[in-house]
Amino acid sequence: MTTTMEGGAARRERPAADSVFVRACRGLPVSHTPVWFMRQAGRSLPEYRKVRAGIPMLEACRRPDLVAEITLQPMRRHGVDAAILFSDIVVPVAAAGIDLDIEPGTGPVVAEPIRTEADLARLRPLTPPDVSYVDEAVRLLVGELGATPLIGFAGAPFTLASYLIEGGPSRTHARTKAMMYGQPELWHALCGRLAGITLEFLRVQVAAGVAAVQLFDSWAGALSEADYRRFVMPHSAHVLSGLAGAGVPRIHFGVGTAQLLTAMGEAGADVVGVDWRTPLDAATALAGPERSVQGNLDPCALFAPWPVVEREVRRVLAEGRAAPGHVFNLGHGVLPETDPEVLTRVVALVHEASAR
Ligand code: CP3
Repeated sequence: MTTTMEGGAARRERPAADSVFVRACRGLPVSHTPVWFMRQAGRSLPEYRKVRAGIPMLEACRRPDLVAEITLQPMRRHGVDAAILFSDIVVPVAAAGIDLDIEPGTGPVVAEPIRTEADLARLRPLTPPDVSYVDEAVRLLVGELGATPLIGFAGAPFTLASYLIEGGPSRTHARTKAMMYGQPELWHALCGRLAGITLEFLRVQVAAGVAAVQLFDSWAGALSEADYRRFVMPHSAHVLSGLAGAGVPRIHFGVGTAQLLTAMGEAGADVVGVDWRTPLDAATALAGPERSVQGNLDPCALFAPWPVVEREVRRVLAEGRAAPGHVFNLGHGVLPETDPEVLTRVVALVHEASAR
């Protein structure tokens, strides 16, 4: 791999920089619409369940050999245009000192939630050696994948703050919003620290060779646009603008974010991720003509008979043509009950129907 000097900073040439996926992220002409699936490396695959048997989730995330194997499984099976690193949004928070676990069927559970200024001291800044196993896994994968892009990712400050404050998944985010409205100084201190951890975690992945990054703000849709702009956007913008010169496209995704798509684009995204509630033509009108879009196929549509799946795939492709660049994806992650053969068929259909 060669190194060039650009803008005074050493930048690695990424073999996947000219891939269909990266080109679509940048709004450049492509031979077909690229496709990958959020949570493609997971419990919908029998080969995943086999290698994970008896190994706790966080332990699996800390073993580069396992991370590489699980990341590659959906590549072998579906022929998707990008791989996503097998990890979890809480991995860097655990590496920065928070005692937590990922419980099967529940998600992240935090032993002692962060609710006071004293609690905040338990969340250290992240340094690269804290996540050396991620650096190692990315380097292994980039070597294996060659010109196929690897997507790195992290959780955005709001979504991470919700897990840390609630202590686990929450439907209402009540304690999170109570801190946001009632103790804004503590809120901003916590989100500022999380933004620093997230930025460092993504920088480790970029330095190790990922071709793009996705910032998951899965639960930001719980907020109004005004509250998002006031309490959350500055912290997400700190992360995304911190990667502006890194040479990789930045995808910014959340669920139920129709009211936030303009702000999430402005926060510093090259690609705005959209759930199933907002068609891609409407999304691109909100995200602006300089941004690509990704998403929108309802993960539940994959349970319908094939003619319905096909109709929905063709609809998403047609609506995606309104955007300067379109990355085909689901509106949220693959559900564990999904038939993997349907995913393989969707990939083939996207490629065939979008070939130009
Ligand atoms: O393709 C991939 O799966 C890439 C790896 C990946 C995981 N989590 C693995 C995982 C990614 C990108 C994530 C992101 C993530 N984790 C998000 C953002 C995306 C989203 O879904 O909105 C969030 C909110 C989390 C937190 C989290 N971790 C949840 C809500 C859960 C689900 C709980 C469950 O079991 O259904 C997890 C656990 C988790 N993360 C699993 C996997 C494969 C399941 C753990 C297992 O298999 O035992």
